[in-house]
Amino acid sequence: MPQSCDLQTDGEILLVTITREERRNALDTAANHELGEVFDDFERDPAYRVAIVTGAGDKAFCAGADLKQPPGSTTLPPTPPSGFGGLTDRFGRAKPVLAAVNGAALGGGFEIALACDLIIAADHATFGLPEPKVGLAAGSGGIPRLVKEIGPKRAHSILLTGRHVSAQEGLQLGFVNEVVPRDELMAAARRWAELILACSPAALRATKAIAELADGRPVQDVLRDQWSLPALQGFYDGPDAAEGRAAFAERRAPRWQPLRSG
Ligand code: COA
Repeated sequence: MPQSCDLQTDGEILLVTITREERRNALDTAANHELGEVFDDFERDPAYRVAIVTGAGDKAFCAGADLKQPPGSTTLPPTPPSGFGGLTDRFGRAKPVLAAVNGAALGGGFEIALACDLIIAADHATFGLPEPKVGLAAGSGGIPRLVKEIGPKRAHSILLTGRHVSAQEGLQLGFVNEVVPRDELMAAARRWAELILACSPAALRATKAIAELADGRPVQDVLRDQWSLPALQGFYDGPDAAEGRAAFAERRAPRWQPLRSG
């Protein structure tokens, strides 16, 4: 059982709550490796189709790296190959992960949220990459993701000041999908998850693969190269494509096939 997070199953949703509230859910090395295993299992297990990651309490989603971890306290690398929180370096994910941001998402905490597919924020949540204020630079993808998502000048106003951005400003800037009152956060995240669950797992895997391929590339290149993606091999002739058409014609809800890894 993981020590640094709580896992709950809600149908096909995996709810991952970081439980290091006394450190504002900052992650030490052990916590990063645990979360790496949690999201490895999530990707592998066909019983799960979408994950929601949040933090315990209402002060912080995750305050980044545990700045109080004693140096030399472990021989493990600081993060697993899947990156900070087991998410920031995890490319090619087949399944959506939602961030339900329940407070401060700072440093690596913001980088986790940016690595998620959607960010749903409580109205008191704040975001920032304050690393330069403690003599560091954010190294888990937050800088390129923010520049890509909101453009360089807007990103620089956050990156070069280390300032805290409100949830409402995050919504205006475009990296937050929805802002809700704090007691409605998890219901809002579940509402988004339910919309995702109505879609075919194989179609979502294909869609995510195309979106990842498209990142920063000309459309004509994507249209040429997308057919080589493993997620698209046999996809249009697969069972969900046939089921989707049949269910539409028969005016009934589709019955999707579980996603097999690989
Ligand atoms: N690492 C380790 N401990 C942390 C932490 C971190 N990143 N962030 C907060 N904590 C600890 C504090 O040391 C404090 O512990 P203490 O009660 O034993 O003294 C506890 O969490 C509460 O922090 P506090 O600052 O009093 O809470 P707050 O609600 O007023 O502020 C934050 C919350 C997240 C805004 C603030 O703690 C903060 O700015 N943290 C640092 C974030 C940061 O710089 N992250 C980038 C790291 S590279």
